[in-house]
Order: sequence, then structure tokens, then C-alpha cells
Amino acid sequence: MKGGSTSIVAQVVEAMTTNETFFFRDKIPFEHFRDSIMPEMLRARAGRKSIRIWCAAGSTGQEPYSLAMCLKEMSGALAGWRVEIIATDLSQEVLEKSKAGIYSQFEVQRGLPIQMLVKYFKQAGETWQINPDVRAMVQHRQLNLLHDFSQLGTFDVIFCRNVLIYFDQDTKVSIFNRLARQIEPDGFLVLGAAETVVGLTDTFRPISDRRGLYRPNDPRPAAAKPVVADAAPRLVAMAGR
Ligand SMILES: C[S@@+](CC[C@H](N)C(=O)[O-])C[C@H]1O[C@@H](n2cnc3c(N)ncnc32)[C@H](O)[C@@H]1O
Repeated sequence: MKGGSTSIVAQVVEAMTTNETFFFRDKIPFEHFRDSIMPEMLRARAGRKSIRIWCAAGSTGQEPYSLAMCLKEMSGALAGWRVEIIATDLSQEVLEKSKAGIYSQFEVQRGLPIQMLVKYFKQAGETWQINPDVRAMVQHRQLNLLHDFSQLGTFDVIFCRNVLIYFDQDTKVSIFNRLARQIEPDGFLVLGAAETVVGLTDTFRPISDRRGLYRPNDPRPAAAKPVVADAAPRLVAMAGR
């Protein structure tokens, strides 16, 4: 039965994927985001005042919401800017949890500074829900990195962390080459602590003294059309303080 086998495939996907994540995981990438990436983007995008960020394996939302909270913290500098964070994942189950933005006491105690918990979450019984204005900054899509993702358009920043470690070398190279088509020439790629492009592809180069940060090399593969096929991107205007 087609429906039955589809549901078995979905169950196998859910069982096989490791969804381990936590707020501000590894800390340093978020410091780079705040101290290096965003100051440069604020300068480079001052004309168009918009920024697109992709969390390519967003899991249950801690990573995209950590980025959203970082952006909230700089809302003064981003007043009048349009900010888009797209969180994608293979697993529909983790995306549902991410959309709900509801976390256990244990989950909010992992990596999230207490000041941010108080500022950006509401307690509901034994759980905590991230505030609607932060949730509204993140849009969710199911997406398999092994498939074509050119329909997402191009991004200024791509976080693709702790997912490539599960793939073989050829698959990693294929993903890096396709990521290179989706990133602006002056954009940033952020990988996990155990991941690198070095020795695999020259489509990206590491930034010295900024562990985990990469920039696209020129010449890159021809840019894919910046078209979002299935839904209009949600652009969230950042309010000033
Ligand atoms: C270990 S989590 C990493 C989450 C987050 N990026 C972090 O670093 O905390 C890996 C995520 O990759 C997702 N994943 C696994 N294979 C994938 C694929 N082929 N395409 C997209 N996502 C995938 C899993 O569902 C899981 O949520």
C-alpha cells in the first residue's frame, strides 16, 4: 500500500536522524555571528536593508531561535531592516516542535542564558514557550539536503551544522557545491565544530581566526535563480527599540 509504505519511510527517517541540539550550541559560532558576521552584513547590506539566513538542519528550533534572539539583541541597529530566517530539516516531527517553540525545563537549561530565558520565553506549567515575536522571525520548511534546494533562493548566511558529519565524502562535496550556489558572493557559511570544507572542495575557504566560518570562493558555480516556488518568503520587519 502506497500510504502505508510512505508512513514507514517517514518513521524510518524519524528513527534514523539524530536531532541532538541545544540553544547557542558551541557558543563560538553565535559570537562570530554577533561580532563578525552581522557587523559586516550591516555594512554590506546598508543599501537594501535586508538579510536572509538559512538554518539548513534546524532540528527542534534551538539553533534558528538562538539566531533570532541574537538579532533581537541588536534590534536597534536593525530598525527598519527585513530579516528572514528559514529553518529547514528532513524530519517533519522536529519541525513541528520547532514551530511550536515549546521546550522543557531541561532544554532551556542547556546553553540558554537565564536573562534570555526571562526576556524571550513565557513559562507554561512545566514548559517554556518562546515569545510569538521571536517565533514569527523563523519560517519552517521540510527539506532534504540530498535533494535540489535551489528553489530556496540565495542567502547571506547559511548555518549548516552537525548534519554533514553523517554523509560520505561525495555527498558532502555535492552539498557544499550546491550550497555555494545559494550563498551571496560575500556571504558566510557556518559549519559544526567537527566539520570542514578543507580537503573536500575549494568552493569555500575558511576564515582564519574564525573557526567554523567559511566564505565562498570565486569563481563559484553559476548562481541559482532566487525564486521561492511554493510560498512567498515571510519578511519580518525589525522594530526599533
Ligand atoms: C544533530 S542535528 C543538528 C541540529 C543543529 N544544526 C545543531 O547543530 O544543533 C542534525 C539534524 O539534521 C537533520 N537531517 C539529517 N539528515 C538530513 C538531510 N538529509 N537533510 C536535511 N536535514 C537532515 C536531522 O533531522 C537533525 O534534525
